[in-house]
Amino acid sequence: MSINALKGFKDIVPGEVETWQFIEKTARDIFHRFDLAEIKVPILEKTDLFIRSIGDTTDIVEKEMYTFIDRNGASLTLRPEGTASVLRAYIENGLLAKKTVQKLYTIGPMFRHERPQKGRLRQFHQMSVEVLGSDHPRVDAEMMAMATLIMRELGLSASLEINSLGCPQCRPAFNKALLDFLHQTESICDDCRRRRETNPLRVLDCKSAHCQEQYLRSPSILDFLCSDCTTHFARVKEGLELLAIPYRVNSFMVRGLDYYTRTTFELVTGDLGAQSAVGAGGRYDGLVKQLGGPDVPGIGFAMGMERLALLLEQQGKTLAAPGLDLYVVALGSAAQSKGFALTQALRHAGLTATMDYQDRSLKNQMKQAGKAMARFALIMGEEELARGEAVLRNMESSGQVPFVLTGEVGTWARELAAKVI
Ligand code: HAM
Repeated sequence: MSINALKGFKDIVPGEVETWQFIEKTARDIFHRFDLAEIKVPILEKTDLFIRSIGDTTDIVEKEMYTFIDRNGASLTLRPEGTASVLRAYIENGLLAKKTVQKLYTIGPMFRHERPQKGRLRQFHQMSVEVLGSDHPRVDAEMMAMATLIMRELGLSASLEINSLGCPQCRPAFNKALLDFLHQTESICDDCRRRRETNPLRVLDCKSAHCQEQYLRSPSILDFLCSDCTTHFARVKEGLELLAIPYRVNSFMVRGLDYYTRTTFELVTGDLGAQSAVGAGGRYDGLVKQLGGPDVPGIGFAMGMERLALLLEQQGKTLAAPGLDLYVVALGSAAQSKGFALTQALRHAGLTATMDYQDRSLKNQMKQAGKAMARFALIMGEEELARGEAVLRNMESSGQVPFVLTGEVGTWARELAAKVI
């Protein structure tokens, strides 16, 4: 019996991977235009890192982490998101000393033991950005501009929803009002009942539709913002207006992670079934300090690559694998040996080239060249080779011209490259 991949873990096979490469290339290019530097961080971290950052009463920490005890008895976790790891790396590598504002991005897999469904995997991939060292509201607007530009250059659209979650100054008054409301709201689930005592804001993030219906009447955090947070939020909105980025304020958006302060945002679409967010993020001004680093503000966002790929696929915008430049069709052992060396020389010359090793017939090899979407085929038979000649065939037009084989294979390859590229 064959062994299958785990539920919620997906292979990205040829035919799909080209779309992923397009997504990644587009994002990398945009990250570069915004002057971000790439950082690569480990997939496995100490469990405490996520408990301390994401929060111990979040769904992620309570229910979704892949946590295990390793051979040394340490509790380790496959990262459920990237922010905590990037901030740990920022602190550990003293990146603050190298640049007062660090703008970083990372791309890679994340792991959450959620119920798999359309657009929701247990291993999924994020492209995420973290900017550390500035609390300027224009940085918040710039983050949203970056996420919006990625969508635009992928040919996709989504709506931007924004909110402010306040700061440690104003959150307690809101928490109290929310708690009062929750005490008057009886028909809520057990999780919400439990969480309202420890972390009332978390309740608003409940996945139950019944709970969500009740919470439509909950107090709005925006009515509780202190004057600094009100000003900050106004300036974020002003920044978005200066950049002509449309947005909608959604005061119910609380995000599923505890570290957020002030601005939060999501890019939402109705095209992903129950999963509406294709990208999301926000400000986390106390988090670096909370993780043992300096008191440095930060903001970031992440985009889900599976969701982007799904949207592209739904719109018929998937990409085909690029074809070959040249297929070497060799007949007979002498031509095959020359062809073998030539194919390698073609690659040295910068061409995408391959040949067949199965000793197939001419007809069959031409079929292979067609399947490989080769733009050209170089046909070499024993007799032609002896005469110092081959045939260069344009696979699209079916036009053929003789190709004179003078000198060494390296020379042939360079001449072919000049004709084909
Ligand atoms: P998040 O909202 O948990 O935020 O995830 C960000 C994005 O990752 C989502 O909008 C979605 O596109 C994708 N995503 C999340 N879970 C899954 C899943 N199970 N399957 C497929 N895609 C998924 C964060 O992770 C924060 N670290 C974002 C951030 C960065 N905030 C500040 N900096």
